[in-house]
Amino acid sequence: MPKPSVLVTRRIPSSVLARLEDACDVDLYDRGDLPHDELLSRIPGKQALVSVVTDTIDRAVLEAGRDLKVIATIAVGSNNIDVAAARERGIIVTNTPDVLTESTADLTWALILGITRRIVEGDRLVRRGQWKGFTLDFMLGSDLRGKQLGIVGFGRIGKAVAARAPAFGMRVAYTGRSVQPSAAGEAMPIDRLLATSDIVSLHCPLTPETKHLINQTTLARMKRGAYLVSAARGPIVDEAALVWALANRIIAGAALDVYEREPEIHQGLLSLENVVLSPHLGSSAIETRTTMIHLAVQNVVAVLSGQPPLTPIG
Ligand code: DGY
Repeated sequence: MPKPSVLVTRRIPSSVLARLEDACDVDLYDRGDLPHDELLSRIPGKQALVSVVTDTIDRAVLEAGRDLKVIATIAVGSNNIDVAAARERGIIVTNTPDVLTESTADLTWALILGITRRIVEGDRLVRRGQWKGFTLDFMLGSDLRGKQLGIVGFGRIGKAVAARAPAFGMRVAYTGRSVQPSAAGEAMPIDRLLATSDIVSLHCPLTPETKHLINQTTLARMKRGAYLVSAARGPIVDEAALVWALANRIIAGAALDVYEREPEIHQGLLSLENVVLSPHLGSSAIETRTTMIHLAVQNVVAVLSGQPPLTPIG
C-alpha cells in the first residue's frame, strides 16, 4: 500500500519529521514563507496538510486539495483557515491548544512589564549612548501593584494571564463571549472594562465580530494613562486608530506582539517611543514550539490511520 502524502509548509525539527516520514510521504517546503500559488500547486494529491498561521487556507486551496482528509495547523488560532468550508468537504481541521497557553501568558506579562517599566525604550536610549547616569526622576514608569488588569477574551490564555496577576498585586476584570463567574476576577461589560482598567490585554480570537474591536471609539473609552497589550491577532486592533491614541496621549502606551499586516508594521507605530513591538513571539519558546509541532504531527498520523484526532477544532 502506498503511504499517504502530506504537505508540510515549514521546516520542522528532524525528530518530528522522522515520525511523520514513518507514516507518510512528506513534501516539505523548507524555504521560508510558502507563497499561495506554490501551496495551490503542491496541494493536489495530498491527504494531509501541516500548516502555520501565515498560510491562507481558503476555498481555492480546499478545491485544489480534493484528497485532503486533515489540515493540522501549528497554532491555536485558526482565522487563516476557512474551517467551515473544510467541514463542508469532510476535512478535519486540528490546532494546538493548551500546549502554548503558559508560554503565551508569559510573553504577555513580558509585554506588560516591558511597556509599563519602559525597558525597551530604555534599551534603545542606552544603545544610542544617551544615558547620562542615575537621577531620581529619570524614565519613570508605572507600578502594577493595586491596579486593574482588564482581560478581553477569557479563554485558556486569558485565564492563564489572569492567574499571574496576584503575583504582581493586580486585580483582574474580564470580558468575553460566554463568560462564567470566576474567582480570578470580576466579569464586566467591555465598555466598563475599558473605562476602568489600567492595562487592557487582548486574548480573544479574530472573528468578524472582533475585527477592529479596538478602534478610535473604544480607545477613547480607555482610562487616560492606561496601556493596551495584545498577543492575540493583529486585526483586532485598528492600528491607525492606535497610532492616533498614542500620539495624542489618549492612552499611555501599547505593547504588541501581532499586527494587522504581518510582517509589515504601521509606520506610525515605528516612530513612537511609548510602544513595545515584538515579532509574533507568543508561543515561540523552544519547548513549546516543539510540542506544538509534535501535536500537529500526531493529529495527522491519527486521522490518516483512521483514529480520531487529539485536538480537532469544533
Ligand atoms: C497561535 O498559536 O495562534 C500563535 O499565534 C502562533 O501561531
